[in-house]
Amino acid sequence: MTVSKQTQSASRCDAPIVEHLYFHIPFCPKICPYCCFYVEEGGKNKNQAFLDALLLEVTRAMERTHIRPKTIYFGGGTPTALRVEQLEYLLGGLKSLLDMSALQEWTLEANPATVREDKAALLKQLGVTRISLGVQSWSDRCLKILGRTHSAEQAVATYEILRAQGFPSMNIDLMFSIPGQALHEWESDLDTTIKLNPNHISAYCLTYEEDTDFFKKLTGGEFVQNEEHDAALFESTMDRLSLAGYQQYEISNHARAGAISSHNMAYWEGRDFLGFGPSAFSTIGEKRTQNVCDTAAYSLRMQAGVSPIHSEENLSADTRLGERIAFGLRMAAGLEADLLTPWAEETEHLIEIGLLEANDRRLRLTRRGRMLADLVASSFV
Ligand SMILES: C[S@@+](CC[C@H](N)C(=O)[O-])C[C@H]1O[C@@H](n2cnc3c(N)ncnc32)[C@H](O)[C@@H]1O
Ligand code: SF4
Repeated sequence: MTVSKQTQSASRCDAPIVEHLYFHIPFCPKICPYCCFYVEEGGKNKNQAFLDALLLEVTRAMERTHIRPKTIYFGGGTPTALRVEQLEYLLGGLKSLLDMSALQEWTLEANPATVREDKAALLKQLGVTRISLGVQSWSDRCLKILGRTHSAEQAVATYEILRAQGFPSMNIDLMFSIPGQALHEWESDLDTTIKLNPNHISAYCLTYEEDTDFFKKLTGGEFVQNEEHDAALFESTMDRLSLAGYQQYEISNHARAGAISSHNMAYWEGRDFLGFGPSAFSTIGEKRTQNVCDTAAYSLRMQAGVSPIHSEENLSADTRLGERIAFGLRMAAGLEADLLTPWAEETEHLIEIGLLEANDRRLRLTRRGRMLADLVASSFV
């Protein structure tokens, strides 16, 4: 079924080297009412055909592209929804296919209550270096509103199980502005997280994504959004995490020294990457593709030797520049001032009103600008 490292065709020797790989594992114990990722619950398609399809997709990509990963990211969905033997087959299969000699970071997203000691030990043994645990909140009240299947106590237990394995890097995902969440509740979530001492924390403001139950509740008036409250929670996030020694290197991402996510940085810097699995995006040069958002169809297509790609876009220079600006603005490092030369007037105005600052021929969002990042970006793209 697969080609070995040695038998990769010489015909793709001139192809650029792809260093960043994403794997989409679309299974979840239950679909959360705010989530818009392509996922399915019930595990109907969580089978051998799916695992083989993923390995086959990698094999095919290796026939036309030079792949030497520096970062690998298993996301979803919930990669830890796979059983121990499935993870062993998939991750072990990848290791025998790919040249892993340049690998620096291998992240896997985990969901509390889907990880026991044997699974955690296997992931560590197979070479995963970074775990991203989707906690969202340490309050059982908030977890219930979010429709999560785990309690805060289970999340702590899962974190401890993972930490005991000694993964070099641990991230905790949190969400704020959960309906009804008071400032003190969010601050307590931050403090509990800081006490656990992961070297990376992602703190996302809840987004009401179209076609979700939360969106319906928002448009139906059951939930309300309050920008001032969101801003207060965001400010508190910046203050508390920075006081605890985390650097806000991207608007929603905070890391201790040396613990930034190289994989996410690669996305934000616009580097080429390959995505595998249903709904996964790939961007190589000017071409962006997306795989079919249907797990059964994805597995069938791979089995039948049919491409899993369902849409393709040629990225214009303007689109690429727009993305570079939007992502660059979100990073603490900001972006090269030259990139905004065509918008000199807008840039000047944003500096005057205190949303942007210029330094060392770079432009960065101010503290207030970070709260209005999307608005600032919309001046340019
Ligand atoms: C792809 S999810 C995977 C994590 C894992 N499945 C879980 O939920 O535990 C990655 C993270 O995105 C964030 N997220 C998902 N939907 C969101 C939304 N509507 N608004 C803000 N953050 C969201 C959550 O913090 C989540 O942990
Ligand atoms: S938030 Fe995570 S667990 Fe919930 S449906 Fe989305 S991917 Fe699955």
